[in-house]
Amino acid sequence: MANGILKGKRGIITGALNDMSIAWKVAELAHAEGATFVLSNAPVAMRMGEINKLAETTGSMVIPADATNDADLEKLFAEATAKLGGPVDFLLHSIGMSPNVRKGRKYDDLNYEWYKQTLDVSAMSFHRMLQAAHKGNALAEGASVVALTYIAAQRVFPDYGDMADAKALLESIGRGWGYRLGKDKKVRVNTVSQSPTMTTAGSGIKGFDGFFGFAQEMSPLGNAPADACANFCLALFSDYTRYVTMQNLYHDGGFSSTGVTPDIMAKFTSGQ
Ligand SMILES: NC(=O)c1ccc[n+]([C@@H]2O[C@H](COP(=O)([O-])OP(=O)(O)OC[C@H]3O[C@@H](n4cnc5c(N)ncnc54)[C@H](O)[C@@H]3O)[C@@H](O)[C@H]2O)c1
Repeated sequence: MANGILKGKRGIITGALNDMSIAWKVAELAHAEGATFVLSNAPVAMRMGEINKLAETTGSMVIPADATNDADLEKLFAEATAKLGGPVDFLLHSIGMSPNVRKGRKYDDLNYEWYKQTLDVSAMSFHRMLQAAHKGNALAEGASVVALTYIAAQRVFPDYGDMADAKALLESIGRGWGYRLGKDKKVRVNTVSQSPTMTTAGSGIKGFDGFFGFAQEMSPLGNAPADACANFCLALFSDYTRYVTMQNLYHDGGFSSTGVTPDIMAKFTSGQ
């Protein structure tokens, strides 16, 4: 159902690891909607080589960049704007990783070196990216920036560990840059708070299937799948959302506004 809503637009999409990645779906759809873009991921993630398949099917080029490395990011924006022929109209930050969550360190027993890595990879990288783009004049007038987040920034989900703190910081960085870039060049910056989604990052969380099932029951529309998230990101990249900025937007099938459901209540109600 492509409508060409990104026709003529240039972009950068980070975080496509494999065909389950949300960024992968965004890239496929952006291509179908007429955009040209650069794909980027951490050099270590490229060893698997999956991203080259996506580059081929979407006619895009790949520029490796560790999102915690300023020199890599500066190079990414310089090379991408040169190759695409101008500043970018859209940018997707789809990056997250917590060594503490991966290695099962609970919130009351964090390794603080890993905690710094969690914040650097999953949140500060968003600031670094926008600072590099801003200084390198790499964002076009009216461009749109989206970063992916999770509701654990607002509410406690115990197994999400220190990633919750990273997401709170990420969302705040979105507002901080949204104000400045909006004033500067009418650039929009939003975070999209996505349902639990079966991806490499998602399924790395302990008890993810429980998380997923609970959210599914709590959401009147059910959990939003990755390709629906891609649709929403594209709407935000398009010209139809020019005055939406500095928002944390829930793309979660209604989960964030639901208190309880009869099915969940039934599990706790004794027959009277
Ligand atoms: N899967 C979910 O349930 C869910 C829910 C809400 C939000 N999100 C968010 O969506 C985003 C994308 O995750 P996903 O679920 O598609 O999983 P994914 O594992 O496919 O993507 C995570 C990406 O981060 C990249 N990355 C890690 N360290 C990096 C670094 N130093 N530099 C550059 N890239 C790096 C990985 O290579 C990978 O491509 C993340 O921010 C995640 O927190 C996911």
